Amino acid sequence: MNNSTALIHSIPTDPLTGSLSVPIYQTSTYVQEAPGVNKGYDYARSNNPTRATLESIIASLEKGTVGIAFGSGLAAIDAVLKLLSAGDEILAVDDIYGGAFRLFTHVYEKFGIKVNYVNTTNVENVFDAVTANTKLIWLETPTNPTLKISDIRAIAQVAKARGCMLCVDNTFASPALQQPLTLGADIVVHSATKYLGGHSDLIAGLVVTKEKELGEKIKFIQNASGGILAPFDSWLVIRGIETLPLRIEKHCSNAQAIAEFLETHPEVENVYYPGLPGHYNHHIAKRQASGFGGIVSFTLKNDTTEAATAFVTQTKYFKLAESLGGVKSLLCHPAQMTHKSIPAERRRAAGVADSLVRLSVGLEDAADLIEDLQQAFEKTKSIIIENTEARLVAGLHQ
Ligand SMILES: Cc1ncc(COP(=O)(O)O)c(C=O)c1O
Repeated sequence: MNNSTALIHSIPTDPLTGSLSVPIYQTSTYVQEAPGVNKGYDYARSNNPTRATLESIIASLEKGTVGIAFGSGLAAIDAVLKLLSAGDEILAVDDIYGGAFRLFTHVYEKFGIKVNYVNTTNVENVFDAVTANTKLIWLETPTNPTLKISDIRAIAQVAKARGCMLCVDNTFASPALQQPLTLGADIVVHSATKYLGGHSDLIAGLVVTKEKELGEKIKFIQNASGGILAPFDSWLVIRGIETLPLRIEKHCSNAQAIAEFLETHPEVENVYYPGLPGHYNHHIAKRQASGFGGIVSFTLKNDTTEAATAFVTQTKYFKLAESLGGVKSLLCHPAQMTHKSIPAERRRAAGVADSLVRLSVGLEDAADLIEDLQQAFEKTKSIIIENTEARLVAGLHQ
């Protein structure tokens, strides 16, 4: 990415007043001199200067041409899907974010768009699964929540050769670590709710395109459908982006320390973190990103919902909540939370085990976070023993 100096100074000061902070244009409309004669703005669904500033910042961060800001990450994804027509097919990564799965399957399939879920960690699988009707390849890398890594450059080559678009959901890496458009992708989407906003205080989505023409089509879809980001939330995302490189650096170093701790823990079965040399496609993550991100997932030896529930209710600093990418550490149990809309068999087949816990590692001290996890493991053990004993006693009294 641009270095921190370039990033901070790409955020403009207001030419009208000199305001150092980007002004929030809280308006629905703009006075015109004559019909159609205006200062570039006519109605705030179509455009807003605060939103436009965010859009140009994200376009430059992702090395694209057009940025478009939406009211949520899912609204951004939805606008990309509206490029398709009935009969088109999507080839999507199998370990996809649950909300995207719900949108693809329960909304778009009924409009005649077929979705084929594939393990994209091997490019051969993608090559074999593309059909004549595939118009869009959809990747998350790293994925949510098993941090699967797919080779963006290799899959972009398949997409080009087979005449389809490649869209990468870059939410987990953020442009501070990975810029898919420079690796051959056509579209990048973000849940800016996460690292770009960075403070767990807003919901927002972004799309960036490599080519202007494609960006204009999505901008047209946005204006036609109306899923815009409000001026104040646009401003909050801009403020978050100012500290993105600094935050991401600390998220990455904390997550690496936690992943290494978990790897040695006797209660842990598997640890998923692209920064671990044993992680599948670690070498690709190293090649295509400048860091491994702030999300770590793991499964328990006791692979049950009961054990995972006990664990996620015992931490002190890791707060139990949906979402990720903020200053404060969060944890969640995908099987009962973010991924509950995916049928259990499909979820397990994609590697999201019943006991899988996802950590969004925040900016606290790594040692405190590790201590918090350690005490939660101990409490979980006691809770499971107590529950088992209670069940035995209840059985004796039946
Ligand atoms: C990878 C990914 N993409 C998209 C989304 C959807 O974003 P939003 O919640 O902002 O609509 C999420 C939300 O968790 C996500 O994790």
